[in-house]
Amino acid sequence: MLFKGRDGMSSTNPVGFVCGTKGDSVSFLVNKDVCLSFGQIVRIESGERSFYARVVNSESSSTLELIEQLREAEGKEAFGPYSAFRKVDAMLFLEKRLGRVRSPTFNPNYRDKVYAASEEDCAILKLSGDLEVGRLRSEDQLLGSVGINIESVPRMMGMFGMTGSGKTNTELILNAQIIDNSPKTVALIFDFAGQLLEGKEITPQCGLKDHPLFHTKVQYYSSRDGKMSVGLHTLTPSKLDTLFPDIQPPQKRLAWALYKQLGATWIEKARESYRASGNLEIRANKSAAEALMQKLASLPSDLFPASNYTFVDSLLQNICNGVTCLVDISGLRSEDQNRIVCLSASAIAAHYKRMWEEYYEDWRKLPTLLITLEEAHEFLDPNKPKTIFSDIALTYRKYRVGLNAVTPRPSRINFDVFAELWTKVIMKTELKKDRIYLTENTPYMEYSETEIKMLDVGEALLISEPKIKFAVPIKVSHYPEYLQKLGKADYGLPNSASLSHMEERLKKLNSHSDLSLE
Ligand SMILES: Nc1ncnc2c1ncn2[C@@H]1O[C@H](COP(=O)(O)OP(=O)(O)OP(=O)(O)O)[C@@H](O)[C@H]1O
Ligand SMILES: [Mg+2]
Repeated sequence: MLFKGRDGMSSTNPVGFVCGTKGDSVSFLVNKDVCLSFGQIVRIESGERSFYARVVNSESSSTLELIEQLREAEGKEAFGPYSAFRKVDAMLFLEKRLGRVRSPTFNPNYRDKVYAASEEDCAILKLSGDLEVGRLRSEDQLLGSVGINIESVPRMMGMFGMTGSGKTNTELILNAQIIDNSPKTVALIFDFAGQLLEGKEITPQCGLKDHPLFHTKVQYYSSRDGKMSVGLHTLTPSKLDTLFPDIQPPQKRLAWALYKQLGATWIEKARESYRASGNLEIRANKSAAEALMQKLASLPSDLFPASNYTFVDSLLQNICNGVTCLVDISGLRSEDQNRIVCLSASAIAAHYKRMWEEYYEDWRKLPTLLITLEEAHEFLDPNKPKTIFSDIALTYRKYRVGLNAVTPRPSRINFDVFAELWTKVIMKTELKKDRIYLTENTPYMEYSETEIKMLDVGEALLISEPKIKFAVPIKVSHYPEYLQKLGKADYGLPNSASLSHMEERLKKLNSHSDLSLE
């Protein structure tokens, strides 16, 4: 906050006036006792045009000579109200003229009046959406709802912020609404920390299991109850790239040869004979055989038992029926987490793609999918082998498969993928490298680097192109409060009206004993 709060809620009083403009930058002098903050949206009235701008900088200074300043500071002399001023710089991002809103075509005039954004502006800026993320922050108040549309889900998303900035809460808010919108939308959530079911670390504690539709619209998978396993017989050599990103072509050729000879049980049988004799039953290059067998031996038997059941089938079925799947992979070794995550995401993404290609009419009935991936930097790092997630981010838009990449380290996300994330929720980030990466590679963020460092818990900047083209300062809704509100909502369950109707009929039956149910 730059200023002390001012009384009154309305924004009908100007906060200042324009003292200079240049290109898309506007400077204005601020009236006394006005409350403004970095990133805040202001409106500038300029004849038949209104301009919208974001506060990017501010300076406070004196009009006095140094000697006069010293005398005033000592209290020896008073120089009146014009001895000090505050100047604010803002960047224009939108213009409204004759009811039409577009990018600015010009800039305001000297002395035009500046206002803090109000509820009315919130409507003009069209910030609300099907999935509410939070509310607009303006001055020291929260204004109207800010959200994204379901169509923007496949346009890929990212949530960034340091530890404790509010990422998990934002994931909960968004996924809860995806559940609310089932079967139009569905979520696949990979939970690395095992937090989302119970909402560990959210205060007061509540998670997806507290959602009123949890029992009908959410399925929980965890390795602890043995429900999360991938049978070896379901693993054909075509899945080896997903399981072992560093696998080499000679090893894959050998795997195919084994598969042709031994069939579905190829992994078990090859492992047995290699263990017993140190050899495979087919001719093979020794080093390729050794490398392949080492990889196959590293699949743990609890997650990869010798069976033909795979939980991925159940996952796929649920997703297609609009049942959100929460996959808790906490407690697994990180290689196994990566394997489970990539195997299941590949299978589901491939299904959506095949449906689009071969059964277009059926594909249209599939719910729009959002895959939430925490620790996204581990899967989208340009210095690591490519995973299915960069393919999804780059090419799965048209199949209505969206990725939500959640990470505290945005600078470790491959540039091409980062450029494809059309919706971004940016929370407090202190690391300079990450802040620079965020601001340099996100449109309309070039002046927000300082602001990102100053955000409070739950405060964020939201961009959702093409609907919301500029960084909107928001306060993300708090999941426990969201649930409370939801508790009061009508869930379309049969209400007591039909019961009372039945009661009526029973009464009637009683009064006409001849009509009794004997
Ligand atoms: N919008 C919000 N309003 C109020 N409180 C919030 C909000 N967002 C988060 N919090 C609170 O801040 C704390 C940290 O939030 P959260 O767990 O979502 O952070 P995180 O970014 O996921 O942290 P980590 O990186 O450690 O996983 C929690 O106690 C949560 O209840
Ligand atoms: Mg978290």
